[in-house]
Amino acid sequence: MTTLLQINASIHADHGQSSQLASRFVRAFSRSHPDSRIVRRDLAGDSVPHLSAERFAAFLSKPQERSAAQGDVVAYSDTLIAELKQADVIVLGLPMYNFGVPSQLKAYFDHIARAGETFRYTASGPVGLLKGKKAYIFAARGGLYAGTTLDTQTNYVRDFLRFVGIEDIEFVYAEGLAISPESKASGLAQAEAQIDRLAA
Ligand SMILES: Cc1cc2nc3c(=O)[nH]c(=O)nc-3n(C[C@H](O)[C@H](O)[C@H](O)COP(=O)(O)O)c2cc1C
Repeated sequence: MTTLLQINASIHADHGQSSQLASRFVRAFSRSHPDSRIVRRDLAGDSVPHLSAERFAAFLSKPQERSAAQGDVVAYSDTLIAELKQADVIVLGLPMYNFGVPSQLKAYFDHIARAGETFRYTASGPVGLLKGKKAYIFAARGGLYAGTTLDTQTNYVRDFLRFVGIEDIEFVYAEGLAISPESKASGLAQAEAQIDRLAA
């Protein structure tokens, strides 16, 4: 069985262009891998709190010394991490908002980067612990950025995923969605064709 974890980061939840591309991939992948199990996480509808000093202290606390509130914070982060550990394939709908990733996604990343759980420090630097997974990223943008220095998302998301051990990463871009109706149609059509090839 293959477990897919679909993470939608759009403020428009299922209606976002990035979510719809991610869902298209999940549907096509499930058709070609009928034993697939799908888990969904909607970061807009079920948002992860911003990291705070208190929450970070909870992550660092020793289990036997935790307050009840710290226990709740760690349990919540553990749930997010368990979902990732159980997934073979991670599918991320990634909108560009104001030249960056949605703040909901940053908050999620801040809750899954946990020393001893998703990475560990070694003498030769940090080592990611989420091994053997494949990630597909569906990036929706109003403008045209892929391959330019204005694309602040690709390196950041790739570096973060590699940091936690996810190294096999495929990006699909739907760009120019806000330029004109023609550019939107062609940006989406290009992404959809790539998705159908990838999921076959
Ligand atoms: C608040 C907001 C900020 C945006 N900022 C950018 C931007 O900086 N660059 C860009 O190319 N498009 C920008 N857009 C357009 C989105 O990238 C585009 O609508 C895309 O479809 C968003 O993904 P979604 O539909 O999955 O939410 C922005 C859209 C919104 C709503």
